Amino acid sequence: MPSQIILNDVSQSFFLNDSKITLFKNLNVSISQGESYAITGPSGAGKSSLLMLMSGLEQAATGQGIYRNNNQQKTLDELRSEIGFIFQQFHLLPELTALNNVALPLKLRGDKDALPKAKIWLEKVGLQQRQHHKPSELSGGEQQRVAIARALVFNPKFIFADEPTGNLDQKSAREVTDILFSCCEENNAGLVIVTHSDKLASKAKHIFTLSDGQFKLASTNNLEVIAC
Ligand SMILES: Nc1ncnc2c1ncn2[C@@H]1O[C@H](COP(=O)(O)OP(=O)(O)OP(=O)(O)O)[C@@H](O)[C@H]1O
Ligand SMILES: [Mg+2]
Repeated sequence: MPSQIILNDVSQSFFLNDSKITLFKNLNVSISQGESYAITGPSGAGKSSLLMLMSGLEQAATGQGIYRNNNQQKTLDELRSEIGFIFQQFHLLPELTALNNVALPLKLRGDKDALPKAKIWLEKVGLQQRQHHKPSELSGGEQQRVAIARALVFNPKFIFADEPTGNLDQKSAREVTDILFSCCEENNAGLVIVTHSDKLASKAKHIFTLSDGQFKLASTNNLEVIAC
């Protein structure tokens, strides 16, 4: 049975000048390993906040988040070592080469084969020639490919991507999107993407919208994804 992330009746709210702002409430969703999901919606709707709840990086104001793995129910806190995150701003470490950026999650886990494994992932994202270059020497699309390799290098069960193509031109966005989907497919990782791009969203199997506190399934596609 694939691992799942389940949000039961969750709500998220913030206080602004003593008034409570509710982003969403009674939201229910389940995310399965091996499936792809897109979340779209207007700016400020709470998409990034929802991604933080799903990934267990933040706590919901009310409701429950469950991580179901091997028929065991755990809290979302226990999901942390199983997730990779990709951000619009790449968030690579500027002093490290592409190779060392990708190797970092493995080194932090004490993996002695961190560098050879990182090399394989740089090849998968087409950057074998750029392994010794630092982020400032790479284009935006190349940096995002390094970020994808870094997110996937330790075989996480779930990948969360917040506007992963927001800073890229159309061609780079297309390349990065293809690599992200095909690599998640190859690793059987669950992929959750937040995006303003309908084109990117349409590549996901399940498309949700979050708008005015309403979270809805907009469509479910049956798409074939090219292998990595
Ligand atoms: N920790 C926080 N404290 C106070 N307000 C917050 C916090 N996090 C988010 N918000 C507010 O919640 C709202 C939703 O933010 P969020 O970043 O989730 O929106 P979004 O849908 O991702 O928007 P965008 O498409 O612009 O990235 C915003 O008004 C934001 O200012
Ligand atoms: Mg956001």
